[in-house]
Amino acid sequence: MTSPMMRKLNGLLKTETFGKVIHYFDETGSTNTVLSRLAQSGASEGTTVIADTQTSGKGRLGRKWVSPPGVNLYISVLFRPSLPAWESPLLTLLASVAVTETIRKTGIRNTSIKWPNDVQIEGKKAAGVLTEMEPRGDRVDYIVLGIGVNINMTREQIKRQLGETAKFATSLKENLGGDVDRAKFAGDLLLELETWYETFNRRGKSSIMKEWTERWGGYNKRVRVSTEDGKVIEGTATGIDGEGHLLLKKDDGSTVGIITGDVTVI
Ligand code: BTN
Repeated sequence: MTSPMMRKLNGLLKTETFGKVIHYFDETGSTNTVLSRLAQSGASEGTTVIADTQTSGKGRLGRKWVSPPGVNLYISVLFRPSLPAWESPLLTLLASVAVTETIRKTGIRNTSIKWPNDVQIEGKKAAGVLTEMEPRGDRVDYIVLGIGVNINMTREQIKRQLGETAKFATSLKENLGGDVDRAKFAGDLLLELETWYETFNRRGKSSIMKEWTERWGGYNKRVRVSTEDGKVIEGTATGIDGEGHLLLKKDDGSTVGIITGDVTVI
């Protein structure tokens, strides 16, 4: 722990296991990549990597996650759940619930989830989750959950950093009108992750699916889905299945499960 932020976080942590081992970097390529390497060398559940800036921050669908220094949170946490590999998207759902609750704790109310793992404030993206799973046979060996949160970027910084897509993005600071303490936010997030993971282990996947659906902004809304292979499908978003796939009721009455894609409420 080398930075003032990390020293503060260390003093604030209320978790049992998550974040008890934190590898901090002023700068790294991607916290997910660093943590995957640590996982391959046997790192234990809850091991965390935080960076002040990332030079190759990774987003979903092969996108880049813009990661300027001094303002945001870039964090990856290691999970070793006893799960079949096909159920690993449940951890993404769990993470987006945890991020939503952490943002609500700062005093921001109008927070919702955009399937599968964006957390939005007033319909603009404030955080994203990237889940990378390593299987062992048909079971999960480990999952690296990477979370990026736009915390203290101003509108000018968002415009400078994100260009064209700035209009779809926001930060906590933009909504609160003042700075958010990044160390406190990281501590609260680790506690939320640990608490929701305990709930999941105790009460099973239906508990997480219910909590996720309650926070989902697209529930029962008409949506347009752009899939990775370039198809566009419209319909009503009716729920998610046990693997975290989006259930879309098409106009012909049939329901399809969407595995990956971009969803817009229309
Ligand atoms: C998305 O919404 O596209 C997911 C973004 C995930 C970004 C985080 S930042 C910390 C971790 N390290 C990465 O390289 N990506 C994730």
